[in-house]
Amino acid sequence: MRIDIVTLFPGMVEPALAESMLGRARARGLVDIRVVNLRDYAEGRHRVTDDYQFGGGGGMVLKPEPLFAAVEALRTPGARVVLMDPRGRTLTQKVAAELAGETHVILLAGRYEGVDARVGEGLANDAVSIGDYVLTGGELPALVVTDAVTRLLPGVLGAEGAAARESFADGLLEPPQYTRPEAYRGVRVPAVLLSGDHARIARWRRVQAIWLTWRERPDLLATARLTPDERKLVERFERGETPEQLDDPAN
Ligand code: ADE
Repeated sequence: MRIDIVTLFPGMVEPALAESMLGRARARGLVDIRVVNLRDYAEGRHRVTDDYQFGGGGGMVLKPEPLFAAVEALRTPGARVVLMDPRGRTLTQKVAAELAGETHVILLAGRYEGVDARVGEGLANDAVSIGDYVLTGGELPALVVTDAVTRLLPGVLGAEGAAARESFADGLLEPPQYTRPEAYRGVRVPAVLLSGDHARIARWRRVQAIWLTWRERPDLLATARLTPDERKLVERFERGETPEQLDDPAN
């Protein structure tokens, strides 16, 4: 898969792409991520990329010509051109999975007060927001999308990858995780995790995931993939029971 990030500030984006999982995925050729300087596609001696807004009101707006020129130079047949925009559809695991199924995604990072509307109307075929807040530009959102998409690509997460990719796919928050030491500052790792009983551990994790989701993000339960028994468990939480009170030996 290829991901192009078009930005006026490559220096803001490149370091994050060189480190850790993204850096390794690129080095191993699992993803082809290119950072493109929008200024290279601006015309004239001063390579101007922004201008005053028609109709008045403060704030500079990104001109359409450099963005059209950049995308027309970069795009391959069927490429998905995504404008990073707080008005776009909200990034979710589902959106990330959808983008991970593409062969070429071009992410356009806006700057200044906005982007000429003709970019959204006639150039981009998608618009994505990373949440209901406004950032100074689309660079961080483009990195967030790149990270969420890249970790879903085959081979990127390694041997443990399948399970990690699945989490959130069933619509639940992750259960708590522990490593050594077994006791730290008076808090012990739950005994079940040291039991070696894998079925019991899996049950405990599932109950914890449902409990955490019910407590912190009850909105997710409406669409979470739960069995009828797990739905009954949620009803018990609703009535005030806690995981510790369940008669399951895992607890
Ligand atoms: N640009 C500025 N804020 C943004 C957001 N929340 N999502 C995507 N692009 C943005």
